[in-house]
Amino acid sequence: TSKAVLLIGGPSKGTRFRPLSLDVPKPLFSVGGRPIIWHSLVALSHVEGLNEVLLVGFYDESVINPFVKEAARDFPNLNIRYLREFQSLGTAGGLYHYRDIISKGNPDQIFVLHSDIVCGWPLAELQKFHGTHRGVGTVMAVKVPREEVTKFGCIVIDPQTSQARHYVEKPEEPLSDSVNAGLYLFDAALLFSSIRDAMEAKVARSAEDPESSSDEQLRLEQDVLSPLASTGKLYAYQTTSPWVQIKSAASAIPANALILASYKTTNPSLLRRRSPTILAKSRADYSKKKGPEIVEPCFIHEDAQIDDTAKIGPNVSIGSGVKIGYGCRVKESIILDDTTLDKNSCVLYSIIGENCKIAPWARVEGAPLVGDKQSIAILGKDVSVLKEVHIRSCIVLPSKNLSRSAKNEVLL
Ligand code: GDD
Ligand code: GTP
Repeated sequence: TSKAVLLIGGPSKGTRFRPLSLDVPKPLFSVGGRPIIWHSLVALSHVEGLNEVLLVGFYDESVINPFVKEAARDFPNLNIRYLREFQSLGTAGGLYHYRDIISKGNPDQIFVLHSDIVCGWPLAELQKFHGTHRGVGTVMAVKVPREEVTKFGCIVIDPQTSQARHYVEKPEEPLSDSVNAGLYLFDAALLFSSIRDAMEAKVARSAEDPESSSDEQLRLEQDVLSPLASTGKLYAYQTTSPWVQIKSAASAIPANALILASYKTTNPSLLRRRSPTILAKSRADYSKKKGPEIVEPCFIHEDAQIDDTAKIGPNVSIGSGVKIGYGCRVKESIILDDTTLDKNSCVLYSIIGENCKIAPWARVEGAPLVGDKQSIAILGKDVSVLKEVHIRSCIVLPSKNLSRSAKNEVLL
């Protein structure tokens, strides 16, 4: 049997995700119409012999428990619980602190998943690979462009044995182009003995040199994975399947596209075309149309109202209670609940927070992905963009009233 731990972090993290994380913790941000971590629960719910998922983090219970309750309904075969750290304990500190709860029932294997990545979650393949070696754990590795490597945990992989020969967290110079994808499978007993060793080594270090590590944190990467790699007990499962790390809010746009693309095989019902709701009265030219033009893939919440003359997609997610009026154009965007787009407005490469109002002929837009740079426009919740105003590549904090056009600005 196996269990899974989702490392969800806490409120001090995700500062690059503002202003979106002002209202909702990053792991619960909606991509493809569902919270980021909901997608990993889908993948975990398909793992045979896995019956428990523990969310470990330091958000207030009141923030996470409503999601846990909903998830319990959506995933009846999983026992889902939230274990709160009293403060940030680091990526291994929470595992250590809750080791008794995590090891209860003697699971053979523990999946550990970061909550800020989106991918195809190839858990069955990871498990199969893990079964072929006798190491402590397997880390999923993905390739990223050379100039990106230093932002990640860098892994030097033995091409013959797939052993991780070296593991260096965010190295100054790239050591290879394979990086830690934030998804692991460990032998349960060996994981906890390795974490205990790491804890003892840390305690010994700080006894020798009190200034060395005054913090309470134990890091899975530097404190556990690096030593495992240097003793040949860490393996890397290499995958070429698409993978997106959601750090900045802008990365939610490619993550949304990745999830929508994956729905074609995993969840086609979420992509279904609904019958249109008609909002506009004058439609002389559109009398023959039978619904808005949808460029797939898109997720459109069943109670969103989209005018017949609008054009939506590709890669658009539209939340509950959203109203999209006559002649609107939306593409490559996430539109959160209860937002209204008035007639002939246009939203491209943007994230629109909850309950925003986009007035007639207004435009909110970012720009297509160039290399790995994505410029998007982000509106926090309750923002109003007035008539004909053009907002380009701006970040707008909640509750603003935008009466003038702006470009490449942070609007506080
Ligand atoms: N429970 C808990 N407690 N979770 C935490 C804590 C903590 O104190 N600190 C971070 N996390 C969670 C985050 O929510 C996230 O899911 C994950 O741990 C990793 O976050 P970071 O510590 O911010 O690291 P990173 O994202 O910069 O880099 C990590 O992920 C990359 C892949 O996305 C590293 O593991 C890299 O090596 C890796 O390449
Ligand atoms: P289509 O021509 O609609 O297939 O889109 P495209 O693939 O050419 O996309 P592009 O990025 O060029 O622009 C998006 C589309 O949005 C444009 O083609 C226009 O159809 C539409 N558009 C641009 N500006 C506005 C606007 O101010 N209001 C509305 N309603 N639509 C606009």
